[in-house]
Amino acid sequence: MEPKLSLVILTIFLLCSAAIHNGSRPVLALAPCDFPAIFNFGDSNSDTGGLSAVYGQAAWPAGETYFGHPAGRYADGRLVVDFIAQSFGLPFLSAYLDSVGTNFTHGANFATAGSTIRPQNTTIRQYGYSPISLDVQFNELYQFRRRSQVTRAKGGVFQKLMPKEEVFSRALYTFDIGQNDLTAGYFLNMSTSEVRAYIPDVLGQFKNIIKKLTGYDRIDGSFEQYVYGEGGRYFWIHNTGPVGCLPYVMDRIPVLASQIDSAGCASPFNEVAQDFNRGLKKVVDQLRKELPLAAITYVDVYSVKYSLISQPKKHGFTEPLRACCGHGGKYNYNKNHGCGSKITKGGHEVLIGKSCKDPQHYVNWDGVHFTEAANKQIFDHIVSGLLSDNKTPLRMACHRV
Ligand SMILES: *[C@@H]1O[C@H](CO)[C@@H](O)[C@H](O)[C@H]1NC(C)=O
Ligand SMILES: *[C@@H]1O[C@H](CO)[C@@H](O)[C@H](O)[C@H]1NC(C)=O
Ligand SMILES: *[C@@H]1O[C@H](CO)[C@@H](O)[C@H](O)[C@H]1NC(C)=O
Ligand SMILES: *[C@@H]1O[C@H](CO)[C@@H](O)[C@H](O)[C@H]1NC(C)=O
Repeated sequence: MEPKLSLVILTIFLLCSAAIHNGSRPVLALAPCDFPAIFNFGDSNSDTGGLSAVYGQAAWPAGETYFGHPAGRYADGRLVVDFIAQSFGLPFLSAYLDSVGTNFTHGANFATAGSTIRPQNTTIRQYGYSPISLDVQFNELYQFRRRSQVTRAKGGVFQKLMPKEEVFSRALYTFDIGQNDLTAGYFLNMSTSEVRAYIPDVLGQFKNIIKKLTGYDRIDGSFEQYVYGEGGRYFWIHNTGPVGCLPYVMDRIPVLASQIDSAGCASPFNEVAQDFNRGLKKVVDQLRKELPLAAITYVDVYSVKYSLISQPKKHGFTEPLRACCGHGGKYNYNKNHGCGSKITKGGHEVLIGKSCKDPQHYVNWDGVHFTEAANKQIFDHIVSGLLSDNKTPLRMACHRV
């Protein structure tokens, strides 16, 4: 053995054993996880084509930066979930609802734009919330697990489109949902205290779904009785972002000048988001106790999102609040003429929801969603584990700490 190499190995060994015996962070001494697949649940922050498949593509210039065409994402390029997939060497996740060109060998994405945790009592035409709430996303996965195996057994090309059975317990289950549950109340004219009052119900429903996911594969097909431990084991849960910094909220629900913080964000909405996050963290702590076979990581994406907006220069951005793609107004956001919207002028369609020249300098893409540049930075901050409540890095998320 080369002397230098053996020195390196010795150093690594010493570091690892120090970490093991240090009593502090044994997770770093464990082997990185080998996730064969990702199953994602969420809203537009992680939708890779679900809503687009059913209600029409997120229009150009969506996708302009990375894909060169609309790609089912509400952004100019990749989302955090895309960077997560890439970091494991996995292909981008196909949307479960997409019936054309999908490949589920390495996972599926159940997220749709506008999804909430709780089913809403309004239609998508009225308020824009997707009917594919988290309970529906669970039903989809439940069916997918069984039916994918029946299809796979047919062999040939089906074997190359459907995941192996073992994948369901070895996969990483990722979540980014909750933001729309908060805005839903506000858009129905509820007060902040009314929105706060229903957060426990939202979190209770979230908790219930995670529990079901750990053991949904019961032979008798019952939804209510499940065998714990036969389903997902590894959960990566994003908290919700500073919704009070997003133009679609600030433009539509005015607050007092005294409620605007130094970053230009509307404090009441951010306080509610932080309330939700404190509750979510408690739910994760409870789940860890109730599910001893599961490794669950709570990830504070709120902090990094707020940091991009409140300290843009530090992160290489010049525009923290204004949308890159839109049609005028204080935030370049117009509810009636969103990113990609067109009007007919002299018999021709004209794009009026245009994008900026330099999306890499904008945090916000369309008044609601983040740009690829921002998503990349969000990913870079969460991958190391610095924002995980137990300091678990993404590649260690299969270890219970
Ligand atoms: C051991 O723990 C101490 C303090 O908790 C820390 O400063 C040190 O970096 C740790 N060493 C290793 C190798 O993890
Ligand atoms: C929808 O209506 C039902 C029945 O009144 C109620 O229990 C539920 O909480 C409502 N959901 C929401 C999101 O308001
Ligand atoms: C689906 O994707 C996997 C992984 O990229 C690949 O090996 C497989 O060939 C693909 N299936 C088809 C039918 O192209
Ligand atoms: C909320 O209030 C606005 C302004 O008063 C009103 O136009 C709208 O219809 C109200 N929405 C609901 C769901 O009550």
